[in-house]
Amino acid sequence: MIEEKIFLKTDLKKTPEEYEYLGLKNSLKLMPEEIVKKITESGLRGRGGAGFPTGRKWQYALAQENDVKFLICNADEGEPGTFKDRFLLENMPFKVLEGIIIAAYAVKANYGYIYIRGEYSKAIEIFEKTIKDAYHSGLLGKDILGSGFDFELKLVKGAGAYVCGDETSLINSIEGKRGFSRIKPPYPVQEGLFGKPTVVNNVETLATVAEIMKYEDNVYARLGTEKSRGTKLISINGDVKVPDVYEIEFGSCTIREIVELAGGPIEELNFVVPGGIATSILKDNEINVRYTYEDLEAAGSSIGSGGMIVVSKNHDLIEILLNVSEFFVKETCGTCFPCREGNRNIKEILLKLKRNGYNDEYKKIIGELKESIMLAARCGFGQSSVNFIYSVLDKFFKEEVI
Ligand code: NAI
Repeated sequence: MIEEKIFLKTDLKKTPEEYEYLGLKNSLKLMPEEIVKKITESGLRGRGGAGFPTGRKWQYALAQENDVKFLICNADEGEPGTFKDRFLLENMPFKVLEGIIIAAYAVKANYGYIYIRGEYSKAIEIFEKTIKDAYHSGLLGKDILGSGFDFELKLVKGAGAYVCGDETSLINSIEGKRGFSRIKPPYPVQEGLFGKPTVVNNVETLATVAEIMKYEDNVYARLGTEKSRGTKLISINGDVKVPDVYEIEFGSCTIREIVELAGGPIEELNFVVPGGIATSILKDNEINVRYTYEDLEAAGSSIGSGGMIVVSKNHDLIEILLNVSEFFVKETCGTCFPCREGNRNIKEILLKLKRNGYNDEYKKIIGELKESIMLAARCGFGQSSVNFIYSVLDKFFKEEVI
């Protein structure tokens, strides 16, 4: 039986008054370049889903010569089955705040936003208080802890659009525009909020930064595997006995063992969605795969957001497919044709499948649509919208030859 590896969850029991902000205090004694180097060497990869190296993103941002830069904490956690950022915001807001300030100092950003999903009312309430208290105690505002560094942080509430979790839609939303995605490049680090260099980092990424900076040496770099360093929070849910947020060390266990850690499946297991519905499923006989970026990629899926959904045999697959398809049809921002029309077409085909029964032609057309959407959609929403649907069709549906 595997055990949780407590790294990010350290200090979980502390009250805001007991928390010491050691990571921040250590960071403010360093030059921004030294922090960026340490984060680069830690091997930390973005925990929103894409896994882009955090240190590299910061290097790009730091290299931008601009008087105004922004740091945004993306807390618009909308991926179905994902609630690890909510866990951090509600239970360790001080560590998230600390990571935000360190990141801003490291890339020389004096202004920041935390964009929290509107449905997360408790997290919003907690973080509003965290910001207010931080201004009182000198953690935000002018000359933070006597370091000479100034940083202003504002909280923005999302209004229920899944696509605003995409960093470019989120930036438009903060600017007061509709949550439409933007074409990349330019990347936000080059041209982001109000046209200025902007770093957008996920909640878990920033909380991890705070913990990494707490230690003199790079403890984090020694955890996990070469390509998947450190630990990961997994919000496991669905047909599992003890749904919750667990922390595991990369490479220390398989997906099956993570399901067991959460008490095991409540009924006979059918498949697991490793990282939210933007990722491809793994069938029961495929989950002996080690939990790392590289192993999941080799197995045709990915870590994604860390929202692991366990699905038993007790569900109608067509209803699941239609449910997911409807979600993407409803949530697309609609500005790019391949995503809007592609997803609408997929829903139509799935309705036909429900009416007429399965035939291989349906899978073939959905496969072609998947390719087109992946290649032509302009943001991660479209590019990953068909992974789940196609993988279920591919792994479970076969034309009956009479
Ligand atoms: P992406 O790969 O386009 O970008 C990842 C990050 O790296 C972005 O911040 C981007 O600006 C930066 N980046 C990439 N290349 C760069 C370059 N050459 N120079 C500078 N910066 C660069 O991925 P994207 O579209 O941001 O995210 C997609 C992922 O989001 C999906 O894989 C999915 O798993 C995840 N997702 C997570 C959700 C959640 O609730 N956590 C919801 C929906 C999707």
